[in-house]
Amino acid sequence: MSNGEVTFIIERFDPEKDTAPYPQEYKVILEPGQTLLNCLNNIKWTQDQTLAYRYSCGSAICGSCAMRINGKAVLACKTQVSDCVKDGVIRLAPIGNTKVVRDLVVDLEPFWNALKRVRPYLTPDSQDAPEKEREQTAEEFSKIDPSTTCIMCGACYSDCNVLEVDNQFLGPVALAKAHRFIFDSRDGGGHQRLTEISETNGIWDCTHCGECTTRCPTETKPLSRIEEIKVKAMAEGHHGNAGARHVLGFRETVGRRGLLDENYLPLRTVGFFNIPGLLSIMPVGLRMMWRGKNPPMIPHYVDKVGEVNNIFARFEEFRK
Ligand code: FES
Repeated sequence: MSNGEVTFIIERFDPEKDTAPYPQEYKVILEPGQTLLNCLNNIKWTQDQTLAYRYSCGSAICGSCAMRINGKAVLACKTQVSDCVKDGVIRLAPIGNTKVVRDLVVDLEPFWNALKRVRPYLTPDSQDAPEKEREQTAEEFSKIDPSTTCIMCGACYSDCNVLEVDNQFLGPVALAKAHRFIFDSRDGGGHQRLTEISETNGIWDCTHCGECTTRCPTETKPLSRIEEIKVKAMAEGHHGNAGARHVLGFRETVGRRGLLDENYLPLRTVGFFNIPGLLSIMPVGLRMMWRGKNPPMIPHYVDKVGEVNNIFARFEEFRK
C-alpha cells in the first residue's frame, strides 16, 4: 500500500460514563514500516490522551499488546499497518473472551486463573536431589521447544471458539503451558498432570478449529501441542474419562463398520454403567426420537468395509 491517510475506527468504552462500547474515528498519515502500535502511540500522543491500551516491550516479547484488528487477534507491535488496511480503514477492538476494563484494556484475571489451574511450574521428583542444575539434552529440549516460546499474549485465548461458549474450558494458553511441563524431562508430575487435564474442561473439550494456532504470533501453535498431549494421554492409558472413551468408541465403530454408530457412541462416551451420566443424556436422545432424528437402531456396514478394516488393521500393526 502506498503512503497515505488511514482511518482508525477504535472501539471505545469507559465503564464510568458509557453504557456500551462505541466506535471512534482517528485519522493517521501512514509512514513506511509503521506498526499498529506506532499508530496507536501517534494517536495517543498527538490526538487523544484518553485512549487506553496496553504495551511494554514493543518487540513481540512481553505479550501485552494483543488486540483485535479487523476482528482477529494480533500483536499490535508485530503487525504492519500496511498489511491490515482495507479501503483505507482499520478497525481495532479489545481481545475477545474477556471483559473490557477500558477501551482496548481487558480484565485478564480469568486468563491467569486458567493458567494457575495447570500448575505452570516444574514439580521435580522429590527423590531427585541433584547437586547442580537439572540438565537436558538437546533432544529432550526439542520436545518442549515450541511450547516454551509462548509469550502469553492471549491472542489464542481471544479467538478460541470453545471459550466463547464455555468459560470453564482451560483454553489454548493453559493447555500449551501444561504441555511445556508434561513433556519436560525434569518434571515429575506428568502422570498427575495428564489425569487432571484429561477431565472435563481439559484437552478433550478442544474442538480442533485451529483458530488458536492461526492467531498465535509465536511457534507455540497451541493446537499442535494439545494434539501431542492427547496422544501421550492415550498412549499412557488415561482412558477413564469421557474424552478418551469418545475417541475409543469412534475408532471401534468406524473400524468395524466403516461409519459412525451414533447410537453406540454417546453410551460409550458416557460409560455403559454410569447411571447418572446416562440419565443426563436421555432427554437429548428422547428429543431426537421425537423429531425423527435418531439413527437406525441396527447400523449398517459401508460398501467395501473390508478396505476400512484393513486400514485400521495396518494402523494397529504400525502402532504396536
Ligand atoms: S508490546 Fe510487548 S508484545 Fe507487543
